[in-house]
Amino acid sequence: MHEPRPSTAPPFHDTGYDPAAPVYDLEYPECDGAELDFWIGEGRRLGPRLLEFAVGTGRLAIPLARHGFQIAGVDASAAMLERAAARRSSMPRATRKRLALRRGDMRTHRLAQTFDLVLLGFNSYLLLPDREARLETLRNAAAHIRPGGGVAVDVFSATPLDATPDHEEVEFLERDPSTGRRVTRERFYTYDEVTHRGCSTLIYRYYDGPLLVDERRLGYSLALLTRDDVVAEFVEAGLQIDAVHGDYARQPWRDDSPNLIVIGRTVAR
Ligand SMILES: C[S@@+](CC[C@H](N)C(=O)[O-])C[C@H]1O[C@@H](n2cnc3c(N)ncnc32)[C@H](O)[C@@H]1O
Repeated sequence: MHEPRPSTAPPFHDTGYDPAAPVYDLEYPECDGAELDFWIGEGRRLGPRLLEFAVGTGRLAIPLARHGFQIAGVDASAAMLERAAARRSSMPRATRKRLALRRGDMRTHRLAQTFDLVLLGFNSYLLLPDREARLETLRNAAAHIRPGGGVAVDVFSATPLDATPDHEEVEFLERDPSTGRRVTRERFYTYDEVTHRGCSTLIYRYYDGPLLVDERRLGYSLALLTRDDVVAEFVEAGLQIDAVHGDYARQPWRDDSPNLIVIGRTVAR
């Protein structure tokens, strides 16, 4: 039986991703299927040297390294990067050598290398606090690509429903393989009309048998952006729009598309 749960949303507090690190891979297993095929396709089209901003635990970067891409990943969370490093250490040496991990802020972190493609997958672009931060990040991405290289952002397509508060039932996630504990997740979602952001508070509870032994909270907010917002930000950051897809099959973006994937290129000199 689960513990009784609170009925009202706790006050929202942005925690950063450190509290998510122990459970992130339980919630979001390694990327495969259409999402991975999409990024492999972009890598084949633009070139094999990839830089992932907000690499997290390597959900995307690790399978890309396994598929032969040379990939550097930057992330602000030490705990998320530790998980990525632990996963990398169990990979064969040749694959391991293709994945570099760095701690840093994607707005400002600089690597002394150029890449064929900088990617920001899985809504990470929306975590940035405001338009200025998004422009700074796109300019930083553009500064890392070769002339004619690409910058790609994949976010969910916001709809009016995203302004509706929500509360998900406690769910059984899985047993944490490192502790054998049962993990549940409760999610509160609120909409902040001042910032036009969706704010999520996730409460992870760890049970040893029936006993609640640990509880961690992850708080993050995502900007609710339209297609035109993202396209205008690319253009303002000096990128030419190459494509706007609505899903991983590269269908043109429409109002009811699941994804908003914008790809920009620097002008080849
Ligand atoms: C939803 S996770 C995505 C991780 C990974 N890309 C994936 O596909 O699973 C978001 C990540 O963005 C990172 N992040 C948020 N803001 C950042 C920033 N300003 N600079 C670098 N990383 C950031 C967080 O630490 C977290 O690991």
